[in-house]
Amino acid sequence: FRLVVLVSGSGTNLQALLDASADPAFGARVVAVGADRDGIEGLARAERAGVPTFVVKLSDFPTRQEWDAHLAARIAEHEPNLVVSAGFMKILGPHVLGAFPVVNTHPALLPAFPGTHAVRDALEYGVRVTGCTIHLVDAGVDTGPVIAQEPVRVEEGDDEATLHERIKTVERRLLVDVVGRMAREGWSVSGRRVRIGGTEG
Ligand code: GRF
Repeated sequence: FRLVVLVSGSGTNLQALLDASADPAFGARVVAVGADRDGIEGLARAERAGVPTFVVKLSDFPTRQEWDAHLAARIAEHEPNLVVSAGFMKILGPHVLGAFPVVNTHPALLPAFPGTHAVRDALEYGVRVTGCTIHLVDAGVDTGPVIAQEPVRVEEGDDEATLHERIKTVERRLLVDVVGRMAREGWSVSGRRVRIGGTEG
């Protein structure tokens, strides 16, 4: 079960998938890592693991559509069963989304706090519990069907960095769990309900 992982930053979620892939019983392996920028730790993690990488920068294309089409073509070279957006900071377009199932990990309990500043927004709102969400990606921003969620408590004295770090610890475990189960048990979607297991591959 082939995974292409898309990253824009530190790539600790990617690292969790790379580490899980080392065990054949996981049922999935990262076959390539794509990014929208150079020089990020996520790409270095892939290189250290001997996984091929590619970079497709929005600024190299005249339109977002052409960027999206090129990104879809680069992903397709690796024939993934699933694309994982793990801290990928660009909105995917119809070429990518039409060609592959994509899951994203988000550091809040959607539909609360979508967007790029989810952790800061949750803190500013004053919630006592936030968390993380693994969801299928659709054309909207953090609007796709939820696959799994886990709560994380906001502690006294938390700032954005401490809270995000606590969320990411949970997020990495949940992402590995969900992707592994999707690979081993298959999944199906009916409306907004995503069901893992009970289907072929
Ligand atoms: C994660 O919290 C992800 O949900 C958010 O950005 C973070 C990425 O972390 N969109 P990393 O690059 O996997 O370390």
